[in-house]
Amino acid sequence: MRKITVAIDGPAGAGKSSVAKMVANRLHYLYIDTGAMYRAFTWAMLERHINIRDEKAVQQLTGSIQIRLEPGEEVCRVYADGQDITEEIRTPFISSHVSQVAALAVVRTKLVQLQRDMAKGGGVILDGRDIGTVVLPRADLKIYLTASVTARARRRFLELKEKGSTETLEAIEASIAARDDMDSHRAVSPLKRADDAVLVDNSDLTLEETADCICRMIEEKQ
Ligand code: C5P
Repeated sequence: MRKITVAIDGPAGAGKSSVAKMVANRLHYLYIDTGAMYRAFTWAMLERHINIRDEKAVQQLTGSIQIRLEPGEEVCRVYADGQDITEEIRTPFISSHVSQVAALAVVRTKLVQLQRDMAKGGGVILDGRDIGTVVLPRADLKIYLTASVTARARRRFLELKEKGSTETLEAIEASIAARDDMDSHRAVSPLKRADDAVLVDNSDLTLEETADCICRMIEEKQ
């Protein structure tokens, strides 16, 4: 059996990370959450009060910051310069800033390089927005995972509520729609389905059913 390289792209809240983590655990693959890297970079910019238009400061930060992912069965821990920021990067505040930061070419160049380095051994599942189109255009299997905005917002709402958040369903739906719009219309590496990606719409599927479907596709290719 040959372990392959899998790219999962799609809009916010489609369940990419939960599904990718589930599939990676079942098949003993390494899961790489690229969204967490953009969130970590955004967190570092906000911490240092770096203005998004200050090109020089952003460039300097790309040169100095060390972002590290430590994959685990349950959570993938995220570190910036050795500091564990796994929980900090999931707040609505970071979610509302990350797409602007992810639209900066200099940030993408830095993080794409890091992602390619992490993926080079194979046996990996990467999820994000540009994995099949830019990061790993020669991935063995590309999946475009999506669901209706309503289904995605409802899932995120339940997830956040469980963590004690009081954000309303309407606010979450609006934030997801805004992020989709920015991610799909930015000039650099916009979110789009690669020509050779398999479309999976999981509006009416559970996460387990989605994972079953993707596991079957991987097993056919191994
Ligand atoms: O996947 P997640 O929702 O955590 O990603 C956060 C944000 O990071 C996305 O809305 C997008 O702006 C950016 N992103 C990206 N390219 C990726 C992964 C995430 O631009 N490969």
